[in-house]
Order: sequence, then structure tokens, then C-alpha cells
Amino acid sequence: MKTTSRRRFLTRTAGLAAATFSGPNLLLRGQDAASKRLNLAVIGANGKGQSDTQAVTLAHNIVALVDVDSTRLEEAAKRREKIHADSDAPAPNVPKLYQDFRRMFDEMANEIDGVIVSTPDHTHYLAAMWAIKHGKHVCVQKPLCNRIAEVRDLHQAGTEAKIITQMGNQGRTMEGQRLVKEWIEQGAIGTLQEIRLWTNRPVWPQGPLKKKLVDCPEHLSWDLWLSCEPSEPYFEFDLGGEPVPKGKRGPTIHPFNWRGWWQFGSGALGDMGCHIMDATFSILGQLIPEKIDVESSEVTDLTGPTWSRLVYHMPAGRHPALKVTWHDGVIDGQPNKPERHPDIPEDTFKKASSGMMFIGTDGVVFEGGAYCNSPIIYPLERYADVRSDMQAGKITKTETRSAMPNNPQGEWAHHIVNGGLPSSNFDYSCPLTEFVLLGNLALRAQQTVQWDKEAMKVTNAEAPNQFISRPSYREGWKPA
Ligand SMILES: NC(=O)c1ccc[n+]([C@@H]2O[C@H](COP(=O)([O-])OP(=O)(O)OC[C@H]3O[C@@H](n4cnc5c(N)ncnc54)[C@H](O)[C@@H]3O)[C@@H](O)[C@H]2O)c1
Repeated sequence: MKTTSRRRFLTRTAGLAAATFSGPNLLLRGQDAASKRLNLAVIGANGKGQSDTQAVTLAHNIVALVDVDSTRLEEAAKRREKIHADSDAPAPNVPKLYQDFRRMFDEMANEIDGVIVSTPDHTHYLAAMWAIKHGKHVCVQKPLCNRIAEVRDLHQAGTEAKIITQMGNQGRTMEGQRLVKEWIEQGAIGTLQEIRLWTNRPVWPQGPLKKKLVDCPEHLSWDLWLSCEPSEPYFEFDLGGEPVPKGKRGPTIHPFNWRGWWQFGSGALGDMGCHIMDATFSILGQLIPEKIDVESSEVTDLTGPTWSRLVYHMPAGRHPALKVTWHDGVIDGQPNKPERHPDIPEDTFKKASSGMMFIGTDGVVFEGGAYCNSPIIYPLERYADVRSDMQAGKITKTETRSAMPNNPQGEWAHHIVNGGLPSSNFDYSCPLTEFVLLGNLALRAQQTVQWDKEAMKVTNAEAPNQFISRPSYREGWKPA
């Protein structure tokens, strides 16, 4: 079948599905082995959306870019043009530009095969759900959603629609995370005893913050930015006349700085947990904790803390029962890091603004970054032995490797075209996101939580349960 006839066929049939919201467009898979170019749309085209677009634009057609900020939308379109201009591959088409993704679906759903969502966290669920209801494959940035109930809903919708799904946590596509799992499972550090995780986030304003009403920039459609959240005037952070604290971005909420607000983001844990807890979740066999203890600076109804410490008490499974500790932020000007394992050199540990320690009876796996892409074993003599064992075939590769390491968007598109499952498809990434967001239930309620996965409920207290679902959705945003 030639591309043109395939496209017409797709357009006609997918148009029918979109008009009635009746089911997924699965026609693409395996329909056209010759032309492997998908028609993709990116919602949240600037910020991380730019690199997400870059990850697929040379191999596929970007048919629409959506951003609620007209200046940033233009920038994103120009950036994409430049990527093509700088390459040998001329841009095959000019994407349509939109500010409201609902309008894009109304006007051109039948031209789209898949949708990348890279908006602030509170809009992930809505944009992804609109896409799924129109039968589109979806690749959604981390964290998949900032409410556990939305994660569950999205998982179910994706499964029922039989689409190809992915979360944008790039570490899951990398070699390092696979190696660490294989090392630990094959005894490289003896018996696993404890896992310590940390990050320097929040690097945006967080802690008790007040709103200061200011004029909304003309280029921003604030109402569309709020999406399902209740209508309210545009605001910045009230810094009380103080200069922007060192290391923090300015006082505006858009772009980037929405992260510390529970309504829009998910704090430091939600922002980095899907990266930094990813290897842990996978290595421990995707178990849920027996309980999570919490300690942090002040948390308000609106915003997250400047630092937190969480202890996930993990039951025995593939490994004995153990503690996973999470540290974030800064206390008294010092990074809030866990205790360094004595085998890790002080200098190496000091340089790691985010990281992981997998502590075993015979050694420790150290990763000095968020994605687990450069793990190393201490003591170094142990690492040398492990590398020899790998060469000699005594430690083997048991994990499936990614078709496109460090490119979750490209990997997702690859599997839409060729079949098979992306590394962070929803069957993996929904439970991972839930694992991360459980910590936010403890943080927001400031108390230990115990989780009943089947009932989707905290069992030892009532207060944390109020944070499982979004309190309300503005009319017109949640697809039926
Ligand atoms: N995987 C990673 O390494 C990584 C890195 C950075 C960010 N992220 C994730 O990417 C997402 C975006 O983060 P960011 O830092 O780029 O934020 P940002 O605020 O800088 O950019 C978001 C963009 O989305 C646009 N936008 C907002 N609401 C929209 C809507 N309703 N429809 C269309 N466009 C909308 C904004 O105008 C902005 O251009 C977040 O979920 C974040 O967690 C992932």
C-alpha cells in the first residue's frame, strides 16, 4: 500500500472513530512497512516539549504544535524548523499551530497518529485522556499525573483503547538501570540491605508561598493554562520585596515554576521521583511499601516543603525487607543528602546533586545522577570483579534492551510502527507513578501512610485520602 492511499484510508476511518469517540485508531500498526513516518502532535510545545519534539521530528511528521503561550509556540515552531534546516532532512510538512488542544482534536484528529504531552503536570491527564478518547497513541511526560486516581484512570483508558503508551522518564530506556538490576539480582553486591535516594530539588520557589496578583502577559492564555482548575486571576509569588533567592528562578509561576504548587505540580518528589525511584521500583519487583514515614519543613494546602525525608518500608520479595529513603531540598543552606556509604569517595558523593546508593552486604552500587545511566560499584576491586564476571558470562544480560536508549519519545514511535512495547509503557509507568505519589500523600497529610492498593485507599488514617483525587474539574475539560 502506498503512503498516500494509506493516509487517505487512515484519515477516513480515524475520522469516523473521532467523530463518535468510539474507539482507537489501530490501523497504523503494520499497515505500511515502507513509510514509517507517523503524524504526531505535541501538546506543551515549548520547555521540555521542545526536546521531546526534537526526539522525533526528523523521523516523523510533526503535524501540530500546541502551546497556550503564543510567543513560546512561535519559538517552538522556529526551533523545529531550525532542526530540519541544520539536518540533511528537509521538513516534510509545516505543523498547524494551536493554543487549545481541544480545538486541535476537533479540527484535525483524523490526521494524527500519536500525541506527545509535555505540559505542566496538572494538564497531563486531560490532554492524554483527550488523545486516548480519540484513539491516539500517547507519550506523556513524567509524572504521568499529579493525582493517583488520574493515574489509575489513564491506565485503564490506555489498556481499553489498546494504544501504545509511554511515560517520558528517559532513565527507563537507558543501559545503566538494566545493568544495576542484573548486577544486584546476580549477587554482585551480596544481599541488598538498603536503598538511599536524593535530589537537590526544589530548584524553583517552594515552601510556604503567597500569591501576588499581577497583570497576565499578553502572550499567555492563562485560562487555557489553568485548564481544569478553577478560574482565578493570574499571579506571581509574593517575595515580600526580597530578591529572588539564589539558585531559584524568578517569581513567575509560568513557565517551569508551577512545580511547587500541589494544584499544578507535585513538588520535588513528584518532579524527580519518576526518575530517581525508577531503578528502585524495578529492582524491588514493583512492590508497594508497607508504610511510608515522613519528616519535612512546613507544607501548606497550596505548596510543598523546602526539604523532605521519606522512608518507604518495603516488604520482602526478590530481596529481603528493607528501607528506601528519599531526601530532597536544602536544610540550613546545606544539601539535604542521606548519609554517605563509607566505600564511596567523599568527593564523588559531594558532586552528586541527585543520586542513588544500593547498599549490599558485599558492596554498594552508586549512581551520581537522576537517571541511573552511569552506575559504578564500590569498592572498585569489586567492580573490577563484576566486569570480569560479565565478560566471562558469569553475570548475564537478562533485561530486554531498549530499541532507542535515551530517547523515550523515539522509542514510543518506534513501537507504534514496529509493534512491541516501549520501556515505560503504562503497565510499568502507572504503578511507578503511583509508588512516587504515595509519598506525597504522606507529605501533604504530614503523617505515616499505609496503602491498600486494591481499595486505592490509605488505611491507617482518613486525612491523606483527600489527596488521592483532584477535588474538581472545570466544565469542558474532562472528556466524557
Ligand atoms: N523527562 C525529563 O527529563 C523532564 C525534564 C523537564 C520537564 N519534564 C516534564 O515535562 C513537563 C513540562 O515541564 P517544563 O519544565 O517544560 O514546563 P514549562 O512550564 O517550562 O513548559 C510547559 C509548556 O507547556 C505550555 N502549556 C501549559 N499549559 C498548556 C496547555 N494546557 N496546553 C498546551 N500547552 C500548555 C506552556 O506554555 C509551556 O510552554 C512536566 O511534566 C515536567 O515534569 C520532564
